[in-house]
Amino acid sequence: MILVTGGTGYIGSHTVVELLNNGYDVVIVDNLSNSKEMVVDRIEAITKRRPIFINGDIRDREILDEIFTNFDISCVINFAGLKAVGESVIKPLEYYQNNITGAVTLLEAMRDHKVYNFIFSSSATVYGDPVSVPVDETFKIGGTTNPYGTTKLFIEQILQDLYKAEPKFNIAILRYFNPIGAHPSGLIGEDPNGIPNNLAPYITQVMIGKRDHLNIFGKDYDTEDGTCIRDYIHVCDLAYGHVLAIKKLMENPGVVIYNLGTGKGSSVLDVLHAFEKAYGKEIKHEFVGRREGDITANYTKVDKAFKELGFKAKYNIDDMARDQWNWQKKNPNGYEE
Ligand code: NAD
Ligand code: UFG
Repeated sequence: MILVTGGTGYIGSHTVVELLNNGYDVVIVDNLSNSKEMVVDRIEAITKRRPIFINGDIRDREILDEIFTNFDISCVINFAGLKAVGESVIKPLEYYQNNITGAVTLLEAMRDHKVYNFIFSSSATVYGDPVSVPVDETFKIGGTTNPYGTTKLFIEQILQDLYKAEPKFNIAILRYFNPIGAHPSGLIGEDPNGIPNNLAPYITQVMIGKRDHLNIFGKDYDTEDGTCIRDYIHVCDLAYGHVLAIKKLMENPGVVIYNLGTGKGSSVLDVLHAFEKAYGKEIKHEFVGRREGDITANYTKVDKAFKELGFKAKYNIDDMARDQWNWQKKNPNGYEE
């Protein structure tokens, strides 16, 4: 049985679908601070299997003890955490408390219950502003520019220290690039609170008529079209990467680190055009000044994840745009009734 923390969230829910479809049993623990319990019904509608859902916080040791006592957990995937870059600058203590205390409490419970396989949701943000692109897993990490990114960096260090002291642990650190898109069924997807910070959900809210136009942050970057380059990856590809990571952990590899992306950099305008293709018309946009903290380009080499996990992204940005638009159209207000 796999314990998925944060399993009703965006990446967590897609991963639970992949796990169930690949024959794993799943227990979700989520405090619903950024998701809805209805996601569990949607997961069941897609997979015809229902994961066990526990409404709880990973900082609550009693709940964790109950879970590890009642279920035979072979691996934990830790998605639970706060993730809004801007908010983390304003509320650093909340971010360190939730993300770091959460991870440490979970790892203590795992150690005490002798569960040693752990997968951690890290981020490309740990590379800071990379000296060159594409980045690979040997690039120096650090230089994060906000508390959210720093929680990822610190947790990676905690995991390395833990492994040195307790080599029974097997730990996969997965550094995600930019997950977008949604399950092709349109039943699950990203449901941001308030004004979206991220590009793709902002675009679909313009498409659905909730926002007037997209502001493109900067047109004078040193790139072909002047807008920033990122490595957008379909959330279903990313989710499947976790199934492969579980298989890897069964080989007792110790600590392993993988970048999960497509290896292809796309500009903001490339993404906008992919959504326009899905929409069949133009999407209103304006160029505005750069957003503080944005870097020019970040995309990954994919060789290590391919060689060691067999991971290869199937979907391109047209697929991502089509599926995210399908989700938005079917759920104009996200999971709100
Ligand atoms: P999300 O907010 O949709 O999902 C996180 C889930 O964790 C939510 O359902 C939330 O309710 C839950 N949660 C938060 N704190 C909790 C706690 N203390 N106890 C129990 N549940 C808690 O976010 P997501 O986009 O699915 O991201 C999942 C993970 O991947 C996060 O750790 C995030 O930092 C990381 N990540 C995301 C991105 C991205 O662009 N979405 C990129 C890199 C890394
Ligand atoms: N952008 C716009 N307008 C918007 C929103 C975004 O032009 O309204 C641009 C940004 O300037 C950037 C690109 O679109 O060039 C992508 O921005 P996102 O906010 O979607 O993604 P980021 O690469 O900035 O950040 C994401 C996650 C972080 C994570 C990082 C690295 O939000 O949590 O990827 O993994 F740390």
